[in-house]
Amino acid sequence: MRLLVTGGAGYIGSHTIRQLIAAGHEVVVLDNFTAGHREALPEGVTAEEADLLDAARVGEIVTRHEPDAVIHFAALIEVGDSMRDPRRFYRNNVVGSMNLMDALLDAKQKRGKAVPVVFSSTAAVYGEPDHVPIPEDAAKRPTSVYGETKLATEKLLDAYDAAYGFPHMNLRYFNVCGAIEGGQIGEAHPNKTHLIELALLTALGQRPSMKIFGTDYPTPDGTCIRDYIHVVDLADAHVLAVQALQDGAPTTRYNVGLGHGFSVKEVLDAVDRVVGTPLKREIEGRRPGDPAVLVADSARIKADLGWTPRFTNLDHIIETAWAWHRGHPHGYAAD
Ligand code: UFG
Repeated sequence: MRLLVTGGAGYIGSHTIRQLIAAGHEVVVLDNFTAGHREALPEGVTAEEADLLDAARVGEIVTRHEPDAVIHFAALIEVGDSMRDPRRFYRNNVVGSMNLMDALLDAKQKRGKAVPVVFSSTAAVYGEPDHVPIPEDAAKRPTSVYGETKLATEKLLDAYDAAYGFPHMNLRYFNVCGAIEGGQIGEAHPNKTHLIELALLTALGQRPSMKIFGTDYPTPDGTCIRDYIHVVDLADAHVLAVQALQDGAPTTRYNVGLGHGFSVKEVLDAVDRVVGTPLKREIEGRRPGDPAVLVADSARIKADLGWTPRFTNLDHIIETAWAWHRGHPHGYAAD
């Protein structure tokens, strides 16, 4: 298949395109390279530097490459920024997605065949859940503008599908972490907020200590519990989803997580074991908008697509991230 991958130079995108290529697909990356890195692209992959807000350019790229399917990662992702600047988030994430979908609808009209989409959604669509593990039909009450923009895009896709026939799969990721074995690519966000990345940068001496945001949550050790899913397992889910859509699978949504949670303290204990030295910890107040526990019920994607996570051991997951950060202490900048 020929696949157009928006945001393909980002953290999850760059892992996914490697697996798509390994599975025999042809990949065209569309990225504006504000958060993505050219260095994260495998040699020889076609890259179109473009912004989804430029509707004419998106239309031209879709017309020229005639993709069989699209994987849509490109988005702003930082929760705190989304609260400070909702306008930028709605514009980038929702209007940008609309431009892409409209280009794909035009392509459908011209070619008489729908171009299915795998959409990068998030556990943030659920907000504070009533029960864990969280099934796909749980209430959607995002606690951040970021989560709202992803939910709005899911709804847009669903409405387009109902009206125009637009097969798609919304994959709701839990806490994505780790890096490809060998550590050639990995997490390198311009704004760093993720627990494991920050802990490993602290281990490299780039930060004085690790802050624990809240120890008074209703959890066994008082810190928040999250479902840490390895980026390579998440990439596998995309390969399976795009193949299923190509084979005629219906529109649906899937949680992608391990189905097992770890607390902030458990993650930091595992980081200490992996790096071989205890990090300095500081207890801070709660970070606004953090639900106490987020754990996925991923039974549906396992049953429908046969997805099976390979990285289930937290220490091993962190080891893969550590290999990346140790080899690239300043991300791609120093390459
Ligand atoms: N945390 C700390 N100290 C830090 C950083 C994080 O204690 O320095 C805590 C957070 O408070 C939270 C947990 O570690 O309890 C995980 O925080 P992350 O920032 O790593 O991840 P989030 O759970 O906030 O969010 C991530 C993605 C979202 C996605 C969500 C789904 O960033 O896009 O997972 O579970 F929606």
